[in-house]
Amino acid sequence: MAVSSRPFGKTKAGEAVTAYTLTNKNRMAVTVLDYGATVQALLVPDDRNGLTDVALGYDTIGEYERNDGYLGATIGRVGNRIGGARFSLNGVEHALAKNDGENHLHGGVKGFDKVIWHIEAKDNALVCSYLSPDGEENYPGNLTVTVTFTLTDDNALAIAYDAVSDKDTPVNLTNHTYFNLNGGGSVLGHELQIFAERFCENDGGCLPTGKLLDVAGTPFDFRESKTIGRDIEADDEQLRRGGGYDHNYVLAGRKAAVLFSAGSGIEMTVETDLPGMQFYAAGGLTDRTGKGGAPIVYRGAACLETQLFPNGMNCWGFPSPVLRAGQKMHTETVFRFAVR
Ligand code: BGC
Repeated sequence: MAVSSRPFGKTKAGEAVTAYTLTNKNRMAVTVLDYGATVQALLVPDDRNGLTDVALGYDTIGEYERNDGYLGATIGRVGNRIGGARFSLNGVEHALAKNDGENHLHGGVKGFDKVIWHIEAKDNALVCSYLSPDGEENYPGNLTVTVTFTLTDDNALAIAYDAVSDKDTPVNLTNHTYFNLNGGGSVLGHELQIFAERFCENDGGCLPTGKLLDVAGTPFDFRESKTIGRDIEADDEQLRRGGGYDHNYVLAGRKAAVLFSAGSGIEMTVETDLPGMQFYAAGGLTDRTGKGGAPIVYRGAACLETQLFPNGMNCWGFPSPVLRAGQKMHTETVFRFAVR
């Protein structure tokens, strides 16, 4: 395993940003920025004996600072939405930033995607740590977070999340990589299988209502592999509300999803110990320029964001995102790559 690092420019505030790269014996490589603990590149062996960069992103820190889509970033303290941007914990009401209509999204105005993490390389891993101070984005408690990216010689990227707080606080961490197994273009021809029988019903603001719907007989049924584009334009109220797929799936077990593209022969399997996965087909991604000047296009990626169910603070019956003071949180998601 080789580890290298290079300067990645400076933020507007003058902080130096560094890009760290792990490379395994098959030349598979992951690059993580200390800005946002962001996956900036993920080079994976393809069926032409080459490498395809399956993670959309940018070449400069300025573009990441403007990053409206959270490309590649670590998301927290609470990923996805909190309805009404408020929650009650231990009898106390907490008001958060309304940065998505009336709701709170991806940790607020300056979430974990926009802070500088400390990165240490250890063997085949990059250990990213961040101390989120008590009151940051109005969340209670000093939260110590570690996100560990491990690259294995069998072409898996594991992301482990560890956290501990000195006060009770909600925590729901995920990674927001925009996967495109061809390295670019539309993702509608990618085949996707999701191991879930149910998904969260969304309201018009993409916020779970608390109700779970059966995938059977709907465009949301990915139990058998099908292309992302097959049913995305179907006449369906939930699809209209999400601008396509932008929904949390209730995972049946550890194996969450398999994504495949005949264009590169790359297959990616997602495994997790978390109960949910947001499948976002990048319906909000506007056309723009990405790495190496290559175009990034509308619906040009599949985000498979493993997590606790969104709005878990306000939906009775959803798994609670509350991390109790002193309790240690640990979860892990693995992205395994193979050529078919
Ligand atoms: C959300 C989308 C949002 C996207 C980028 C996803 O996790 O579910 O609604 O547009 O992140 O911000």
